[in-house]
Amino acid sequence: MARHLITSALPYINGIKHLGNMVGSMLPADVYARYLRQRGHDVLYICATDEHGTPAELAAKAAGLPVAEYCARQHDAQKAVYDGFDLAFDYFGRTSSRQNIEVTQHIARRLKENGFIEERTTRQVYSLTDGRFLPDRYIVGTCPYCGYEAARGDQCENCTRVLDPTDLLNARSAVSGSTDLEVRETKHLFLLQSKLEREVEAFVEATGAKWPTLASSIARKWLTEGLHDRAITRDLEWGVPVPADAWPDLAAEGKVFYVWFDAPIGYIGATKEWSDAAGEGEERDWRSWWFDVDTDVRYTEFMAKDNVPFHTVMFPATLLGTREPWKKVDYVKAFNWLTYYGGKFSTSQNRGVFTDAALELLPADYWRYFLMASAPESDDASFSWELFASVVNKDLADTLGNFVNRVLSFSRKRFGDEVPAGHEAGEAERRLGEEIARLLAEYEEHMEALQFRKAAFALRALWSAGNSYLEEKAPWLEIRTDQDAAALTLRTAMNLIALYAVVSEPFVPSTARAMREVFGPVDGAPALPEGGWVGAGRARALDAVPAGTGFTVPPVLFTKITEDDLAAFRERFGGEPEAA
Ligand code: MF3
Ligand code: ZN
Repeated sequence: MARHLITSALPYINGIKHLGNMVGSMLPADVYARYLRQRGHDVLYICATDEHGTPAELAAKAAGLPVAEYCARQHDAQKAVYDGFDLAFDYFGRTSSRQNIEVTQHIARRLKENGFIEERTTRQVYSLTDGRFLPDRYIVGTCPYCGYEAARGDQCENCTRVLDPTDLLNARSAVSGSTDLEVRETKHLFLLQSKLEREVEAFVEATGAKWPTLASSIARKWLTEGLHDRAITRDLEWGVPVPADAWPDLAAEGKVFYVWFDAPIGYIGATKEWSDAAGEGEERDWRSWWFDVDTDVRYTEFMAKDNVPFHTVMFPATLLGTREPWKKVDYVKAFNWLTYYGGKFSTSQNRGVFTDAALELLPADYWRYFLMASAPESDDASFSWELFASVVNKDLADTLGNFVNRVLSFSRKRFGDEVPAGHEAGEAERRLGEEIARLLAEYEEHMEALQFRKAAFALRALWSAGNSYLEEKAPWLEIRTDQDAAALTLRTAMNLIALYAVVSEPFVPSTARAMREVFGPVDGAPALPEGGWVGAGRARALDAVPAGTGFTVPPVLFTKITEDDLAAFRERFGGEPEAA
């Protein structure tokens, strides 16, 4: 069986992420990792906080903390939220770790040896008042293209053009506001991507042919525009230091690598952290996932579309230039945007729902299911409280939760605490079995294709099939005339609960656990039954829980969102944003 390496784009350190970030990277990666683990694959799911660069330094300054301290706290705060969302990372590391510094410096040295890094003299804005260079976001001014007055040195937020600090008009320091600036010459390292263009193209041609269009079209667009050499160092305090053995002068000046150079390498660095964190008697080898493993590891990356160029073009260029056999991505799963009432989720304007606030309102499974069922895969998708409430109420509370409680409570009332026996399965059960087998196959097909929205619909269809079966058989009527008929229906429905407990787990892990515990204490993660669900064209699953098995009735699985709740949510988070 293939081993699966999974990574999700590393969340930037400055602040708690919103639901849009969650659905575009970590959550689908977790759903996929759980799905593969259930099927017995060897899975390694790695993520980390992306900690370097100007936004971290500026946010630390705003918080009045030393940047290392700020990052340590924010890392813990983010980790707590991800635990709350039941994200089952194999490791959640940090790009500022010793391990990532080592790997990043190693890769830089190799690139230099192979002639892909060059020192160049550049013109940078220097602030006399602040006594420092002002890279990227350290400088603000008027955008030369659209006239927006608060454009940052690296990009204009208004027209989205990528800028260079020297492009700005009326430039001023973002730290002190000073306009006492001058342009000074200083040296920086450049990654000679132009020399690697052919190879990256060949890589995208070969591997990218199997990526979803969203990813491959963005990669091709960048390649068509040409790969330019790019400065990979900055004048900052917080970053991976340029190694002194390779570049003594730049190291002496305190230059560090640019955040987008060391961030993707952080996938490797965090895997090394995972390796180093091995407990006693445990074997963990980061190299066995990353080095010289081209065919036996399948590597899938999850990210939002703005991250695609870095992962499909720049990171591969970096790895190719080392001339070492680093594992490169096999499949890029990219997402469009989740919007808030059609407008932007905005961290800076505090609009939309942040992941910590979401968990204060409702347990993770409500969000996990809703977000995956509305994942912005083929297009942008819009969050609204009304839609959220209707999905929760219909799919989770009515279709799944109500089925489970109705079946178990009724059976207990009529037949006690054990799964009743009753008649042999008949025609209705045969039809149900066929339907379940068909839907399971559909579900698996979509999961294998990483089509999460479709997989969520197939899952919901499985839940619905249980409801239809129950309505058709109506055990509350059967019981009046034929106890054994009602018992058969209930036993079959209970087998569906056991099936749901496993199949639903990637999407709603804690609810799945509650469903598994219906039939007794559980140990470890759920796995598929021996030989799979489906055998000889029917769902073997329907006989997995035999008559006589003890069971308990769990508390209500999902509570409905009421009109009052809705009003309160809208009030707290704002309804529709101003026309964007
Ligand atoms: N921090 C970046 C973002 O939030 C993503 C970094 S992904 C990695 O957009 F490749 F750099 F790790
Ligand atoms: Zn602009």
